[in-house]
Amino acid sequence: MADNPVIEMLGRRLRLGVIGGGPGSFIGDMHRSAARLDDRYELVAGALSADPDRSRAAGTGLGLAADRAYGSASELIETEASRPDGADVISIMTPNDSHHEYAAAALDRGFDVICDKPITNTLDEALDLVKRVEQTGLVFCLTHNYTGYSLVRQAKAMVEDGQLGEIRLVQVEYVQGGKADENDPDPADGLPWRYDPVRGGPSLVMGDIGTHAHNLARFITGLEVTEVAAEVGAIVPGRLVDDYAGALLRFDNGARGSFWVTQAAAGVENALRIRVSGTRGSLEWHQEQPMLLLFTPLGGPAECRTPNGPGTLPLAARSTRIVAGHPEAFLEAFANIYSDAAEAIAARRSGNIPHPLAMYFPNAIDGAIGLRFVEAVIASSRAGGAWTDATT
Ligand SMILES: NC(=O)c1ccc[n+]([C@@H]2O[C@H](COP(=O)([O-])OP(=O)(O)OC[C@H]3O[C@@H](n4cnc5c(N)ncnc54)[C@H](O)[C@@H]3O)[C@@H](O)[C@H]2O)c1
Repeated sequence: MADNPVIEMLGRRLRLGVIGGGPGSFIGDMHRSAARLDDRYELVAGALSADPDRSRAAGTGLGLAADRAYGSASELIETEASRPDGADVISIMTPNDSHHEYAAAALDRGFDVICDKPITNTLDEALDLVKRVEQTGLVFCLTHNYTGYSLVRQAKAMVEDGQLGEIRLVQVEYVQGGKADENDPDPADGLPWRYDPVRGGPSLVMGDIGTHAHNLARFITGLEVTEVAAEVGAIVPGRLVDDYAGALLRFDNGARGSFWVTQAAAGVENALRIRVSGTRGSLEWHQEQPMLLLFTPLGGPAECRTPNGPGTLPLAARSTRIVAGHPEAFLEAFANIYSDAAEAIAARRSGNIPHPLAMYFPNAIDGAIGLRFVEAVIASSRAGGAWTDATT
């Protein structure tokens, strides 16, 4: 990430407008920091809250010009579209139920779009965004940020390079403990958006972290889940929203897999783990120890890959910024997604071709495939865990 292809192609940074991510939103800070890390974007506009006064105050609080600290998302989209120096890119980090409305409006007004996951709350809405992206030719980047880690990209590159042979087994789990406390019941008044199925989506745990785990497995292996046998529900007594999901998976090459996600594991922080086994060896990666990728070749000694260490393949090498042995993690991975999207957007706007390794960021099609998986998991669970098609 040393050079700046955006400056090379456009002669300036991309102008970024953000929707959502106001005070108190962890991920809002991450988006804005990630956008700045490689100097490819300049934050020019924001609508940071559903409340107009709070939105404007939050925008000026970030240093935005008063006339570009908007009171609402629609005001931002309309006004920025008509300014000669308006935003090039709109980034959306609002509650899930508004992703479709804001992304569709931004695409219709000619903005490239970055959107947080899940892409939408329904498959139909996701497919509608896929169609709009295809019709407009605009860039759509979905921030499944775990695919930005250098060693996740190394894992993908090793699979693509054939170092694992034919993939046979995939085990992915995303375990958190934020909803483990039985004395912390679902809020009765003023339901936060995540607890409301209309706003948060049909399954809390699947929207929050299930889509990340599914996307990570697809990203590393390049395989698609074709069938699931699943159970989804609440493990904490009295809880009304889903806090765990488990599934057996069948992949399109015949590989088998397991999927386990929960937010009700007491004391666990952010344990996203994956193990992929092929005919020639296995890979293991754990998000809380992101500097190590374990490779156990068949019949050989275990090996560790490190960011920029020996054996680093080009896709991983372009995803680090500092020399081997210096930790990089969540923020840098998030920035890799933003920076690759910036390269694609600048190339589109200047009529250039982006570097092929810049094109690994998740897009609207990945979002739709994720929603199809969520719907298949729910359908399978309702059918008592029956094997269910995850491709239609
Ligand atoms: N990629 C990740 O790892 C990750 C992590 C956390 C959250 N998320 C996603 O980010 C999104 C937001 O989640 P969160 O945890 O930040 O929620 P949150 O409730 O903590 O924050 C949402 C923010 O959006 C603002 N907002 C709400 N409605 C708005 C509107 N109509 N216009 C403008 N601003 C509005 C709120 O004021 C608030 O600042 C969700 O889609 C969630 O799935 C992604």
